[in-house]
Amino acid sequence: MNKVKLLPLLTALLLTVIIQSCKNDATNNSSYGAQEVFETPERPAGQTDVLELRSEPLEKINMAIIGLGMRGSGAVRRYTYIEDANVVAIADVVPEYVERAQKILEDAGKPKADGYTGVEDWKTICERDDIDLIYVCTHWDLHTPIAVYAMEHGKHVAVEVPAALTIEECWQLVNTAEKTRKHCMQLENCNYDFFEMATLNMAQQGVFGEIVHTEGAYIHDLRWLNFAEENGYWDMWRLKHLEKEDGNTYPTHGLGPIAHIMNIHRGDKMDYLVSVSTDQYGMSAYAKDKFGDTSKYAKVDYAKGDMNTTIVKTNKGKTMMIQHDVTSPRPYSRIHLVSGTKGFARKWPKTGIALEPNAHHFLNDFELDSMLKKYEHPIVKEVGEKAKEVGGHGGMDFIMDYRLIYCLKNGLPLDQDVYDAAEWSAIIQLSRISNKNQGMPVKVPDFTRGAWKKLDKVTYYTK
Ligand SMILES: NC(=O)c1ccc[n+]([C@@H]2O[C@H](COP(=O)([O-])OP(=O)(O)OC[C@H]3O[C@@H](n4cnc5c(N)ncnc54)[C@H](O)[C@@H]3O)[C@@H](O)[C@H]2O)c1
Repeated sequence: MNKVKLLPLLTALLLTVIIQSCKNDATNNSSYGAQEVFETPERPAGQTDVLELRSEPLEKINMAIIGLGMRGSGAVRRYTYIEDANVVAIADVVPEYVERAQKILEDAGKPKADGYTGVEDWKTICERDDIDLIYVCTHWDLHTPIAVYAMEHGKHVAVEVPAALTIEECWQLVNTAEKTRKHCMQLENCNYDFFEMATLNMAQQGVFGEIVHTEGAYIHDLRWLNFAEENGYWDMWRLKHLEKEDGNTYPTHGLGPIAHIMNIHRGDKMDYLVSVSTDQYGMSAYAKDKFGDTSKYAKVDYAKGDMNTTIVKTNKGKTMMIQHDVTSPRPYSRIHLVSGTKGFARKWPKTGIALEPNAHHFLNDFELDSMLKKYEHPIVKEVGEKAKEVGGHGGMDFIMDYRLIYCLKNGLPLDQDVYDAAEWSAIIQLSRISNKNQGMPVKVPDFTRGAWKKLDKVTYYTK
């Protein structure tokens, strides 16, 4: 054979070897797959899942609110509008905040609550036998400790976002809820935003077809609040987290509504994620501008990169993109984007819906209004007007509180369960690990330990 005939043969052989070796890399080498950084602990003997947990109906819900800062004092005010809830105990380590909350109750014609000011008084409150629900509005570090202690002492618990900071804490919540059969709800108010609820309703009625991709975010310029020393917040807890931690440190506002739209742990599941952060620029630039180059704040090496982007792949092959940025000068956005085989919706930066056969273009304002009216969620129909009147992020906070009390009163499963709390909070540590490892794919733990296939959709129960 001469050289001219041999060359094409050798080239073909070489190409075959290269293609085969690429295939082997993709299919046989597990180091390219998502890493199971956290093993799933075995469910303790005798313990079963708490999906769709129902508890004994309660005529009136006696509750304690712990942490009466910005968020907790707002909660005290909202609960004065809910007939079936009695705020019987309130606690904060700042005595003036307890007094302020008593005044809110008094002004609304409600009885005074028992006031507590000790650092560990939340334990005494959880140990009382006349309380049904502990409502936690402290800084993040106390969320899981109080929630676990409350359930251990026979109380239902509702806990501000994020419910947990680590995977270890997520498992503590799940295991305690399963052991005690008590409700543990994360107070994700954004699930009750009117537009988010309309898109949930539309999704459940098939308007978007098969939902393939969703996006959510918490993009909120909080630089002023992070550095607020006077009349700010307790012990600069927000700033301390930004100093120490990267990744998506506050994922639940963007993730909660899209997780329900995608029926996470009700037929689908978050399988793995990849996460990447920018470096940190915004906090340092702001601190230098506001406090001077030599100020204590300008000297800090903040760990939190300005923008974190996390992408989750679900077991059914769908994706969810979640972003977090609280240190850039940008307009507020939770994105809230839903994309399916028949249509599309998005809330920020400009609200729009686009549907087949004309999904190339957004519906005009009139059509959009008609769609939102047509698909107004039944719960918004029921209490939307009152929610607007009471207020709290445009009414969604009130709907959340109303639903919590309604479900407890009627012995119904809560809209958000302990697995939601664990899954949405888990993004904090998982995104940090992925980002530290150049966007390495990381498995999301299955907090239901296999039970996610039992249900086929999210249900907000009514009688
Ligand atoms: N869902 C939302 O829209 C939303 C909005 C804002 C804040 N939050 C969440 O609410 C929580 C509180 O935020 P905030 O802005 O009100 O903060 P904050 O600092 O104003 O309030 C926290 C309160 O906890 C109190 N506290 C500290 N240690 C305590 C203890 N041992 N016992 C009792 N009280 C104690 C503090 O004195 C303070 O008043 C955070 O988890 C935050 O993420 C949620």
